[in-house]
Amino acid sequence: MEGVVYLPPPRKVSSVTVEEALLLRRSIRAFTGDPVRLEDLAMILWAADGVTDARGEFRSAPSAGATFPLEIYAVIGEKCVVTAGGEHLAAGVYKYHPHLHALVPRRYGDFRRELEAASLRQSWVGRAPVSVVICAVFERTTSVYGERGRVRYVPMEVGHAGQNIYLMATALGYGTVAVGAFHDEAVAEVLGLPREEKPLYVMPVGVPRRAARLSFEDLERVISAARR
Ligand SMILES: Cc1cc2nc3c(=O)[nH]c(=O)nc-3n(C[C@H](O)[C@H](O)[C@H](O)COP(=O)(O)O)c2cc1C
Repeated sequence: MEGVVYLPPPRKVSSVTVEEALLLRRSIRAFTGDPVRLEDLAMILWAADGVTDARGEFRSAPSAGATFPLEIYAVIGEKCVVTAGGEHLAAGVYKYHPHLHALVPRRYGDFRRELEAASLRQSWVGRAPVSVVICAVFERTTSVYGERGRVRYVPMEVGHAGQNIYLMATALGYGTVAVGAFHDEAVAEVLGLPREEKPLYVMPVGVPRRAARLSFEDLERVISAARR
């Protein structure tokens, strides 16, 4: 496949525990101008929807009846993702391929402004170096579970993937915010989505201008005060 970016394989990269990532997870809407490292983006995409079993059947997030309705995209700006060798990935819209653990280019160019406009002009979407967009093919789940798949299972699964992105981003020193307010058709157009894929979350990712700082001791004080 032409232009495919094979990502560095998933591996243990962070010394942040799950409880620390939960403690420090916050929705972040202000980013420095720093790029995202390709190896970190690879881990964030793997957390969202990566393969996690020896036969390649299962993923990082649970899925109703293993129907796996989600499709993950990355909208990457100009000079916004840097490789270990110091090169920049071409700006564009890429689709994450979970089995190859690769980014497949869909269109080249910096589409962050268009994505921002489609997201009701939320400036953090335009300013973040990368936005991960979670889409779903509802039919994969509704063909098994009918209406329950549409109103419950698929939205639940997007939540699982979204939280995985939040936690992995936090563990690697990045910030993100789950953006649900956007014009569906406009986001679909920016991404060049096939008709069956519907966008559900836009998650801008970048280095936070101010990271959350809270310790478990702080939290204990908050809980003690609430009990008084
Ligand atoms: C379904 C959903 C939709 C959201 N949509 C937006 C959005 O469009 N724009 C935004 O800035 N934040 C959005 N948020 C983030 C919430 O504002 C945020 O999670 C909330 O204020 C709690 O803050 P926290 O995430 O830091 O704990 C959304 C969150 C959820 C769960």
